Amino acid sequence: MSILSGKKILLGVTAGIAAYKTASLVRLFIKSGAEVKVVMTPAAKDFVTPLTLSTLSKNPVVSSFFDEEDENALWNNHVELGLWADVMLIAPATANTLSKMASGNSDNLLLATYLSAKCPVYFAPAMDLDMYNHPSTHETFEKLQEFGNIMIPAESGELASGLVGQGRMAEPENIIDFLEKDILEKLPLKGQTVLITAGPTYEAIDPVRFIGNHSSGKMGIELALTAANLGAQVYLVLGPSSLTVSHGLIDVIPVVSAEDMYQAVIERYENCDIAIASAAVADYRPKHVSDQKIKKADTEFSIELERTKDILKWMGAEKKNQFLVGFALETENEKENAIGKLKKKNLDLIVLNSLNDKGAGFKGQTNKVTLINHKLEIKAFELKTKSEVAKDIFDTINQLKKDE
Ligand code: CTP
Repeated sequence: MSILSGKKILLGVTAGIAAYKTASLVRLFIKSGAEVKVVMTPAAKDFVTPLTLSTLSKNPVVSSFFDEEDENALWNNHVELGLWADVMLIAPATANTLSKMASGNSDNLLLATYLSAKCPVYFAPAMDLDMYNHPSTHETFEKLQEFGNIMIPAESGELASGLVGQGRMAEPENIIDFLEKDILEKLPLKGQTVLITAGPTYEAIDPVRFIGNHSSGKMGIELALTAANLGAQVYLVLGPSSLTVSHGLIDVIPVVSAEDMYQAVIERYENCDIAIASAAVADYRPKHVSDQKIKKADTEFSIELERTKDILKWMGAEKKNQFLVGFALETENEKENAIGKLKKKNLDLIVLNSLNDKGAGFKGQTNKVTLINHKLEIKAFELKTKSEVAKDIFDTINQLKKDE
């Protein structure tokens, strides 16, 4: 899956002959799973039609602050567009537009949008050989990069003028490749390994029965997806769950019992940078597992239970450089109990769910958590989707790791 999947791409098209290639560019973005909006300079419409780009991007294309021919026209809000984007790409970027970007000129919607954009901005210059080599163009490139914009250098070859040299806009495939590599390279968890336990465990009583719980594994799966989208290699040790997950950076290790989960964790703990125990591990298991299905009788029946291994406690005891996160599901004296677990299990952060909060806990799509770190700083969050909660947890982890 491309790192561009789900990203909001704002493509700015300016008036160069390479604008005809933006049709392919938009197609490639859509194919990679990105959402695309296009803003054009008025003159760019001479090179590629807004209809082509709106059809391919499945979004209206804008090029002026409002449509002068429509008296009911709405104002095209450059600030909103700029804030909508995860990535802005100006391709082709002419010498004229680039020099205006460098000097803060905003005499069209594309330039005003560029000035409003808070996201990373990439530009793919396209111009004739001598324009590309002119000292003022080089000064513009440098200035724009000093501002934090990222240049996708032009390629060499035959130019529209018939001259041969550097100046052709990078080919659409190469632009996509450049963006994917650059985005991946800058992800905050790039090069880190994250180990996550999730879901319930099943403790066998006999070949057909087990002791289990209602955990769906959803919270752990959302944590795994968030970590992978931040660039980490993820090992997700997942107890029996009806949910599936598929991501190039996530390795799912399916397990059944607490003992299986413990063994899977031991194998991977030493080399991980962040470990999160979100699994609802059974604290007890039947001391004897019957080989045969147990037959009912008219007498009372009881099962002798023994403790399972506390996986998180083991991780806390073995901790070297790992950042260790645990979960606590509490019904009373929530904060005190969670702080007790944080200390007892040598954690860096604990995620507290209170069963007293509506919408929090095991089964649903939402969760309401309070995060307590090892300095005992407490932050309570609103009720959110589990995916949003996962982002809050990783924001907190990244901040705490930065402060270390
Ligand atoms: N955990 C674990 N291995 C176990 C039990 C729990 O790794 N055998 C982890 C859970 O994944 C969670 C945290 O420990 O991150 C929960 O702590 P725990 O003290 O076990 O909570 P409860 O089972 O709710 O314990 P208690 O009955 O003491 O409240």
